Amino acid sequence: MDGNGRWAKKRGLPRIEGHRRGVETVRRTIETARDFGIEYLTLYAFSVENWRRPEEEVGGLMNLLEYFLKRETSTLIKNKVRLRTIGRTEDLPPKVRRELERTIAATADFTEHTLVLALNYGSRTEVLDAAKSYAAAIAKGDVDPEDTSWQSFAQHLYTADLPDPDLVIRTSGETRVSNFLLLQAAYAEFVFLPLFWPEFDRAAFTQAIEDFNCRERRFGRTGDQLTAESTDTKVATSHG
Ligand code: FPP
Repeated sequence: MDGNGRWAKKRGLPRIEGHRRGVETVRRTIETARDFGIEYLTLYAFSVENWRRPEEEVGGLMNLLEYFLKRETSTLIKNKVRLRTIGRTEDLPPKVRRELERTIAATADFTEHTLVLALNYGSRTEVLDAAKSYAAAIAKGDVDPEDTSWQSFAQHLYTADLPDPDLVIRTSGETRVSNFLLLQAAYAEFVFLPLFWPEFDRAAFTQAIEDFNCRERRFGRTGDQLTAESTDTKVATSHG
């Protein structure tokens, strides 16, 4: 969700105004994802590196998160969207943790749609946390040290019970991955859009999905093998 600051700057507004508009885009994007039948939507809301921003901006972002959770929980419940988080959420301010816990508990039983908020998230810290947890499981005798399968290690990532992303969209024209789901996105398709996050609307989302639908995803195989096997992950953007 990149470009909130630049969106605001272009209009002579404070950066936090861009983030405020960004929250409106978050609401809209959750709705659109649900309409498209997307089962898992992950939003990179706050990275481990974002603590380096001015204190006022970090505080403003935490207030917006709290506001979003207080205001949107009823809509998530109405739309049967389950909330999950990935990241070191234990380091977030208590008021945000409290709201997260509340919303997670209130939506825990929904299975159709999942909204994953990446909060205080970074792939490198995720790997460190996973390695620590994996080592502890080996020491306890729960994991065979000879088991070098990815599946076994992946059980210790924050995303253990979540599928890998099919499509990663970054707004704002930057073409970096910025420590986001580096391992899980190993076979994801990437779409980089020249729009600031507050400008990301249903049309832009549709365009990204249509672009994704045109990609040939080979997962290491040949094009001919794909024709023989069905590995279709296309998303319908319109009904009928
Ligand atoms: C990147 O834009 C955006 C962020 C670091 C924060 C995203 C947060 C929100 C949209 C609001 C809170 C989230 C939720 C889920 C309610 P940037 O500030 O880096 O933009 P810039 O690169 O133009 O400065």
